[in-house]
Amino acid sequence: MDKLLIQGGHRLSGEITISGAKNAALPILCAGLLTADAVQLSNVPLLQDVATMLKLLRQMGLQVEQDGEQVMLNGAAIDKLEAPYEMVKTMRASILVLGPLLTRFGEARVSLPGGCAIGSRPVDQHIKGLQAMGAEITIEAGYIHAKAKRLKGARIVTDMITVTGTENLLMAATLAEGETILENAAREPEVTDLANLLVAMGAKIEGIGTDRLVIQGVERLHGASHAVIADRIETATFLCAVAAAGGDVTLRNARTDTLDVAFDKLREAGAILTSGDDWIRVQMSSRPKAVSFRTTEYPGFPTDMQAQFMAMNCIAEGNSRVVETIFENRFMHVQEMNRLGAAITIEGHTAIINGVDKLVGAPVMATDLRASASLVIAALAAEGETLIDRIYHLDRGYDRMEVKLSAVGAHIQRVK
Ligand code: EPU
Repeated sequence: MDKLLIQGGHRLSGEITISGAKNAALPILCAGLLTADAVQLSNVPLLQDVATMLKLLRQMGLQVEQDGEQVMLNGAAIDKLEAPYEMVKTMRASILVLGPLLTRFGEARVSLPGGCAIGSRPVDQHIKGLQAMGAEITIEAGYIHAKAKRLKGARIVTDMITVTGTENLLMAATLAEGETILENAAREPEVTDLANLLVAMGAKIEGIGTDRLVIQGVERLHGASHAVIADRIETATFLCAVAAAGGDVTLRNARTDTLDVAFDKLREAGAILTSGDDWIRVQMSSRPKAVSFRTTEYPGFPTDMQAQFMAMNCIAEGNSRVVETIFENRFMHVQEMNRLGAAITIEGHTAIINGVDKLVGAPVMATDLRASASLVIAALAAEGETLIDRIYHLDRGYDRMEVKLSAVGAHIQRVK
């Protein structure tokens, strides 16, 4: 199993190119199931989760040609309407095939995702929405079995804001009969990116970027080409790394318009940020100041950036409070950070961080994707050597992170 060995205490300087967003690429790849024509994608990040999704889609008969960050999909010969447990258990986003398969082929069998490190994460809202559109759904032997001759438009109000739930129902609605209204829809930029591709494929969607999506179903969708939006979470992760370790780094191919709340918090922490449409420069020459925040849905503070900002807070001047409201178990990095000398206590959904003068390297273990990224940041800011075990979590969602960080002067290497 690969590990990362990091020698902390080095300032970062230079340029990093941001990759396409994991959480946009995954639903966008599933949109390839909606048409018999070719869908041509660029800026697809080179990640383990993308490889897993492509494997799943290939098993269904989707033709996939990949050349680096270009991916060509063709859904003319899909013959297996199933996502097996072996795939879904390794990647929950596999649930995103449910809506497209059901709406185009009238049937789908998708394993229920099992437990998850960051919270219970049920998919009841996906099921409720499809049932409202007329799907007959049974749960048998751990599988969701959905059938519908043709889905019918409906007004769906989800109990909470769900990102992949919105994406699943949005894709299902594109080929349904009549009008679907999705109230309480997620407004994440990744949902918008998917909606933009669907429109390019011939879908009729209004309200893109808002919490009310109105979809007029069409008979068929056609091929399109699309560049996946830049990854705002990867961008924020590198911004935090510079804020914690110090330095002067320019991020290229970024999307500044999706990062308002991260920018505000980094400025509050003392970072100097300058930006153009697709680049951001971050300069940090002092110890960061502690920043408090509460995770919420977009455009609020993303849960996917919580752990990385907490890493910065560990060595910040002052105390901070971080409240996690999206997932019930997303503080798994805390115990590992405390092993590096951080002073964090947890009270329910709140972490209280007393900033310390320094962290000291130690062996630690990654527990999930964003926790892994936060440990990398803590290690870059720490004195001495940190060995991070189980970095397969990191590889699921970051495109060659250690290569990008090495290029800006981090002492980081992958070891077997
Ligand atoms: N929820 C339900 N029932 C549902 C759906 C969601 O109770 O049917 C709950 C969840 O348990 C959670 C909350 O609603 O408490 C929000 O979950 P959501 O459905 O929005 O999460 P998701 O769609 O499963 C996506 C991202 C996550 C990100 C969350 C929140 C993808 C592939 N995943 O997950 O990304 O944390 O939205 O923004 O888009 C990551 O990249 O590290 C990651 C975990």
